[in-house]
Amino acid sequence: MLKQQISPSMMCADYRGFTELLKTFEDTGIEYLHIDVMDGVFVKNYTLGTDFCERLRAMTDIPLDIHLMITEPEWKIDWFRPRAGEYVSVHAEATNHLQRALAAIRKYDAKPMAALNPSTPLSVLDYVLDDIDAVLLMTVNPGFAGQKLIPQTLKKITDCRRYLDERGYSKIEIEVDGNVSFENAKKMYEAGANIYVAGTSSVFWNGADIPANIVKLREMTK
Ligand code: DX5
Ligand code: ZN
Repeated sequence: MLKQQISPSMMCADYRGFTELLKTFEDTGIEYLHIDVMDGVFVKNYTLGTDFCERLRAMTDIPLDIHLMITEPEWKIDWFRPRAGEYVSVHAEATNHLQRALAAIRKYDAKPMAALNPSTPLSVLDYVLDDIDAVLLMTVNPGFAGQKLIPQTLKKITDCRRYLDERGYSKIEIEVDGNVSFENAKKMYEAGANIYVAGTSSVFWNGADIPANIVKLREMTK
């Protein structure tokens, strides 16, 4: 059974009290920090980048989970200087050279992850299963926080878990990203996800405080 893990989406953080926020994440055993990198081309938005990653690494030992929503990521992995233990995800739709991009991540001893938009079939993974440690299934179309779950992606999580297990890749993790609310997280967990990108729908939900939100998300995913 793969470990259930939380990766708060740092584009959703309130930067007032940022040091305190990182301390809360360390104290509550948060496994990764999800960094959304958008280039205005692959998705119509700009968000975080290389400097942000460097500064965050200087502030905490929690490994980064860098989600590259950028075109031709294979030429840009070096810019991020990935570290051992970090996840870096590249979108299958953003490159003609998915294997090259994943291999560029592995070169740093970082953990390669293949990201798929909601409409992208699992078969794009057929010949890169040895090159990845995880699959990132987008459960909304990427680009913006605060969107609604695309319901058919729940079935895709089930299909993906089965697809990996049937081929002997039970150790490959499944990360879900987009509207991972408490309610949706439970369904995603039941479908076979094990890493949850937590944005405005859960960890940063403003109906309760962050530690309470983390406890609740853990409850929903065990
Ligand atoms: C995009 C982001 C968003 C977002 C997730 O890749 O990772 O999906 O921050 O948080 P929600 O959807 O809960 O606002
Ligand atoms: Zn993301």
